[in-house]
Amino acid sequence: MIYLDNAATTWPKPEETIAAIEDCIRHAGANPGRGGHKMSLSAGRIVYETREAVAKLFKVDDPVRIVFTGNATESLNLALKGLLKPGDHVITSSMEHNSMARPLYVLQKRGVEVTQLQCSPTGTLEPGAVANAIKKNTVAVAILHASNVTGTILPIEEIGRITRANGVFLIVDAAQTAGLLDIDVNRINVDMLAFTGHKSLYGPQGTGGLFIRDGVLPEPLCQGGTGSKSESLEQPEDMPDRFESGTPNTPGLAGLGAGIRFIMSRGLDSIRKHEQVLVARFLEGLKQMKEIQIYGPADPSIQVPVVSVNVRGQDSSEIAFILDKAFDIACRSGLHCAPAAHRTIGTLDRGTVRFSFSIFNTPTEVDYVLDALERTVAELP
Ligand code: ALA
Repeated sequence: MIYLDNAATTWPKPEETIAAIEDCIRHAGANPGRGGHKMSLSAGRIVYETREAVAKLFKVDDPVRIVFTGNATESLNLALKGLLKPGDHVITSSMEHNSMARPLYVLQKRGVEVTQLQCSPTGTLEPGAVANAIKKNTVAVAILHASNVTGTILPIEEIGRITRANGVFLIVDAAQTAGLLDIDVNRINVDMLAFTGHKSLYGPQGTGGLFIRDGVLPEPLCQGGTGSKSESLEQPEDMPDRFESGTPNTPGLAGLGAGIRFIMSRGLDSIRKHEQVLVARFLEGLKQMKEIQIYGPADPSIQVPVVSVNVRGQDSSEIAFILDKAFDIACRSGLHCAPAAHRTIGTLDRGTVRFSFSIFNTPTEVDYVLDALERTVAELP
């Protein structure tokens, strides 16, 4: 199979990820932070080492500022619902995934004022629009780092300078960029950064987290056992216990730690270069096919390795179905849980066929997919 659905979940995973998960279940399968015995301590060490790996990746000084969750959606729910109160104003973009858009919609119904800034048809945003939208009651800008539909990278650093200068929090959805772009939480002035483990961090599903800057204090969405201060009914205030109740996904976090060590040993720069080469080759081939419409920037230097297209006049799911059935190519069609983004780029009616690459894809695979697309188009009525 040619797997090009890496923006949904990367596959395959590095052998290191798989080995770490198995090793954790076999040898450190106890409950971390809850017992004094050797296996519980080993499990606790695994969780802590993964926290350290995430902190190192995002240049966070203190690993306890990283809170683990099940995925980026859970992280965004915590950031948004934990922070925003009725009467607060939040600025967002028209390219958001439902992981951002749906919690914001719920908050809007509870009295939070939401401004959605219109992005360009290629999915980008003029940072000046953010500055112009800030009002007296603006508490946060909540925005994605790169689109899961078009791959467009948003000008997060410029937006971060604006939010910092105006005393407004910056909440960033890094689901499509963590592990792909060099994220330095201080350089981009982000106050809360949501990430997921199962995409470009090469961990398993069910892992993710939220960086919370010191001094930012969202309300926890959930209370429960933390293995600390058990005598009190009050949720502990200490990080990360304030936000981490219940038994964590230790095997998943073992895999996430291994995935992060894998990408760090390869080097983010070399991973980015590899994926840019693939995207450039793919775009070049697509541009030769007059029936194909490409969405987004169509420029590997300003997008992550996600390319959305349509074959003129065809439904996106029909094309993806043919590619899967006849050519064993896995891609994703439809709306990609991001209807606002599709409205922005003009594809709400039929979605797009999305191809997304990982470190494990090759130029030969790109050529195979281009050939398959050409044949598919040739056979259409
Ligand atoms: N958000 C993931 C995607 O874009 C699942 O496919």
